[in-house]
Amino acid sequence: MAVYKVFLILAMTVVVSAIDSKWYDARATFYGDMGGGATMKGACGYGNLFKQGYGLATTALSTALFNDGLTCGACFEIFCTNDPKWCIPKAGSIIVTATNFCPPNYTKTKDVWCNPPQKHFDLSMRMFTKIAYYKAGVIPVRYRRVLCSKLGGVKFEIKGNPYWTLVLIYNVGGAGDVNAVNIKGSKTQWIAMTRNWGQNWQTGIVLTGQSLSFQVTLSDKAMIEFDNAAPAGWQFGQTYDGGKNF
Ligand SMILES: *[C@@H]1O[C@H](CO)[C@@H](O)[C@H](O)[C@H]1NC(C)=O
Repeated sequence: MAVYKVFLILAMTVVVSAIDSKWYDARATFYGDMGGGATMKGACGYGNLFKQGYGLATTALSTALFNDGLTCGACFEIFCTNDPKWCIPKAGSIIVTATNFCPPNYTKTKDVWCNPPQKHFDLSMRMFTKIAYYKAGVIPVRYRRVLCSKLGGVKFEIKGNPYWTLVLIYNVGGAGDVNAVNIKGSKTQWIAMTRNWGQNWQTGIVLTGQSLSFQVTLSDKAMIEFDNAAPAGWQFGQTYDGGKNF
């Protein structure tokens, strides 16, 4: 038991030290309304964020932070700073998961917050108004990467068709941003998946009728193997719970 605990502490220390948890400056705005309808789906490939456990604690990232979608699923702690007029006093910080992209607009000449190289968070209105008055429009913030804390196991939503298996991986704890995925059918070896868009991972190898296992690696190199996460009778359009999390 003691040995196990020491191992656990070591393992957690490695994970914590691997993401860059330094504080940086950025700006933040919001999109959508308090209901958050406009924040659903988005460029990370997630769907109904309420059903998937993210709720309204989400943000879109500017090009400088989005990393072409590889940062999808990462968690950020953000507080409003240096704006006595618009920061809510003693508001503390918010923690949000990256679920969307704030696209640059090169034809605009002012208020181009999401254009490179600027670091920008386009928050859900609900999150923005926890740290600033909504009339602020745009606020200066400080932010850092934090480990994501998710309830339940990593989820695998299987989409596509027999010749193109597309798997959305969501509800990922720890560093949160999946950077590599291997899939294994009960009759295959491990197959490296490629990232199609957001957190949708794909393979062209036919895997129907086989139970599916996954090796999921996050940006901090933490890896978990989910053996037989989906049973042999898995169906397209279904979501399977990996049963454990980072
Ligand atoms: C980009 O900015 C221009 C000028 O403000 C605006 O007319 C256009 O709708 C914007 N494009 C997008 C995709 O938001």
